[in-house]
Amino acid sequence: MAFLSTISVALLVFLFSVVINQAQSEHFFFEGFNESDDKSDLRLEGASIFKTSGALRLTNKTKNAIGHAFYSKTIQMFNKTSPNASSFNTYFVFSIVPPASGKGGFGLAFTIAPSYQIAGAKAGQYLGLFNELNDGKNSNHIFAVEFDTVRGYNETSNSYGNHVGININSMESNTSEPAGYNINNTLKNEEIDMHKGDPIQAWLEYDGVSKVVNVTMCPMWQQKPMKPLLNFAVDLTPIVKEFMYVGFSAATGDTASSHYILGWSFSTAGAAHPLNLSGLPIPPVEKESSSFQFSVIALIVVLSVVIVLLSGILLFLALYKRIGRLESLEDWELECPHRFRYRDLYTATKGFKDSEIIGVGGFGVVYKAVMLSTGNEVAVKKISRNNPIQGLKEFVAEIESLGRLRHKHLVNLQGWCKKKNDLLLVYDYIPNGSLDSLLFHPRNDSVLNWEQRFNIVKGIASGLLYLHEEWEQVVIHRDVKSSNVLIDAEMNGRLGDFGLARLYDHGINSHTTNVVGTIGYIAPELARTGKASTSSDVFAYGVLLLEVATGRRPIGSGQFILVDWVKECQQMGRILDAVDPKLDSRYADEQMKLILELGLLCSHQEAEARPRMRQVTRYLDGDEKMPVMDDMGSIDSSRLNEINRRLMQLSCIEMTSTSYHSSSIGFMSTSSIDAGR
Ligand SMILES: *[C@@H]1O[C@H](CO)[C@@H](O)[C@H](O)[C@H]1NC(C)=O
Ligand SMILES: *[C@@H]1O[C@H](CO)[C@@H](O)[C@H](O)[C@H]1NC(C)=O
Ligand SMILES: *[C@@H]1O[C@H](CO)[C@@H](O)[C@H](O)[C@H]1NC(C)=O
Ligand SMILES: *[C@@H]1O[C@H](CO)[C@@H](O)[C@H](O)[C@H]1NC(C)=O
Ligand SMILES: *[C@@H]1O[C@H](CO)[C@@H](O)[C@H](O)[C@H]1NC(C)=O
Ligand SMILES: *[C@@H]1O[C@H](CO)[C@@H](O)[C@H](O)[C@H]1NC(C)=O
Ligand SMILES: *[C@@H]1O[C@H](CO)[C@@H](O)[C@H](O)[C@H]1NC(C)=O
Ligand SMILES: *[C@@H]1O[C@H](CO)[C@@H](O)[C@H](O)[C@H]1NC(C)=O
Ligand SMILES: *[C@@H]1O[C@H](CO)[C@@H](O)[C@H](O)[C@H]1NC(C)=O
Repeated sequence: MAFLSTISVALLVFLFSVVINQAQSEHFFFEGFNESDDKSDLRLEGASIFKTSGALRLTNKTKNAIGHAFYSKTIQMFNKTSPNASSFNTYFVFSIVPPASGKGGFGLAFTIAPSYQIAGAKAGQYLGLFNELNDGKNSNHIFAVEFDTVRGYNETSNSYGNHVGININSMESNTSEPAGYNINNTLKNEEIDMHKGDPIQAWLEYDGVSKVVNVTMCPMWQQKPMKPLLNFAVDLTPIVKEFMYVGFSAATGDTASSHYILGWSFSTAGAAHPLNLSGLPIPPVEKESSSFQFSVIALIVVLSVVIVLLSGILLFLALYKRIGRLESLEDWELECPHRFRYRDLYTATKGFKDSEIIGVGGFGVVYKAVMLSTGNEVAVKKISRNNPIQGLKEFVAEIESLGRLRHKHLVNLQGWCKKKNDLLLVYDYIPNGSLDSLLFHPRNDSVLNWEQRFNIVKGIASGLLYLHEEWEQVVIHRDVKSSNVLIDAEMNGRLGDFGLARLYDHGINSHTTNVVGTIGYIAPELARTGKASTSSDVFAYGVLLLEVATGRRPIGSGQFILVDWVKECQQMGRILDAVDPKLDSRYADEQMKLILELGLLCSHQEAEARPRMRQVTRYLDGDEKMPVMDDMGSIDSSRLNEINRRLMQLSCIEMTSTSYHSSSIGFMSTSSIDAGR
């Protein structure tokens, strides 16, 4: 209960802002809603109220309720310089909380209406906007974008249960789509179940010149998808009046959900103000009064079970400690869901037997393991250090957070375990070994063909994009290279060891700046400043592209530097001379050129000239043409040479022997360096 009151205290602290511009253009934003202030800025009608949490609740779970909330000032929809309705943009975060049991309904709609009171509007499928008599009449002057969770307003229309639609003067949508979003411009949208109570972001843009409405949505914390869910050509000029109210309408019917708006911004001049998502209120989880007793009973049962389990665990731990077999656990370690038991890993690797080793590298030895409890194959990386790992607690916190990363082009980190000075990391087991080994030590002469290579680098690009832009935090990989790219059974590339290079940061005296990475993949500015960034990852990715296309290592014997060499070929107009001869000329010229040129662009000397990963994936998908680069920025080879030479001198390179069985290859991280400056 103390926990609950802490939450409600925390919820009381929220942000609120309104910015009003004089003139014709209008923009404002709300990051949470505060009763005392908002009374004058928003007009609430029907069931709408401000919650103390700072959320605006349009309806509660009462049946057949209507809630309206409109901005209290009118918006001027025309201006003197144009006969056409003006452009506008709006962005809001909403949440639809269904009842504790059973189905919820109906939905909410962003609405532009001539009045903040919509006379005669009905609940249920009419969403508080129309009634059976005026539905479809042009005299309504209502434009709405509905986020509806109930199937059909009748059988023929609105046929998707969970959908977003554009409605003009009518409940019959002019266009609608199942709620969803499209991150990487694929054919299929990722569905969003709006009916789960999760906060959802929505954008609505109307361009008064091209006369197009775009509606885009995605879950909270995701970046706005490039591709709108709805892209509908409509001229709002005959639909809106000169002065209109903007706001929200929601309704319930026989089934009822609570509809919340958590934040809202609107602008008729330029993009809608972004909202600080971490400042928004959290939609409360409401208890149904009828199921209250049930919840109390459930709570008591759950609490008793938890208490029994906890005492069991404590007893077990106490016993275990006495036997002295368990790794010494500190309090904070007990709370980590990704922690594995040392004993389990010990058994799974047959006692870290040498025969189970599948890779050796700069970070440690990798074992193949089969978990006894599940039968799953995993790879266990054992990082041994002579001295205790400093900052281990912080590092583990990071691993805990990396453990939540999930992407099909990443080698997912399943968990970790520590015993004395050893740190064990548990990963997905990837059967086909590393790209490095497939490129440079192909088994039984099976050379990766071009389609496979292209597919691999595309996959890695989407994995990196996820790390850089699509997850809740920015994750910098810091050690992108071919030996960290593993190839799964379907010959897809998966990026491993992300974030791991930080281990060196944590392990070493904090006053030195460390360059972490692998020679040949280190961006010039990284060598200079020691600061890894997403663009230093892009640099390394560029080198990887060149490696894959040319079948050569980033740095060869003598003065050979791959980037410079490809660049020379390009400058002579014979870039295809650089192509891996092992491919036997079996590749698509266009694709090959794209990879080589993109490789050069990514490994550009100047960090600012490199594209971001989002851009890279667009080039690879053919959604955008690469800029024509007559001068790819003169890669100052003498400088790059110099940097790499200095690094080699400085570093205590662990030229670890790559001892692995030819049949079983797993994780290898060779010659990772760790050079103090
Ligand atoms: C609204 O905000 C004001 C200050 O901005 C604060 O004093 C007041 O307590 C808030 N109202 C509520 C209901 O939290
Ligand atoms: C829901 O809202 C209506 C209208 O504001 C109110 O009369 C009713 O008591 C509320 N019900 C609950 C369960 O909060
Ligand atoms: C008036 O409309 C035109 C064309 O739609 C637009 O370019 C201009 O910015 C608008 N002016 C104001 C003040 O909104
Ligand atoms: C108004 O709309 C017409 C027809 O779509 C278009 O040709 C014209 O350029 C628009 N005017 C302005 C000022 O946007
Ligand atoms: C469904 O809606 C359409 C269009 O409004 C209407 O013509 C039709 O009669 C409705 N069908 C039913 C079963 O209500
Ligand atoms: C939208 O739908 C309404 C009713 O079905 C129809 O009258 C109107 O012409 C449609 N508008 C557009 C722009 O398609
Ligand atoms: C990106 O696109 C691929 C197909 O090209 C798809 O399999 C993958 O799931 C998409 N990524 C996300 C995060 O949706
Ligand atoms: C709507 O989306 C299309 C396609 O992504 C885009 O080209 C256009 O600029 C967008 N229009 C507005 C007003 O955002
Ligand atoms: C966003 O909100 C959080 C929590 O209220 C606050 O700590 C943070 O400083 C805000 N960020 C910005 C950029 O205003």
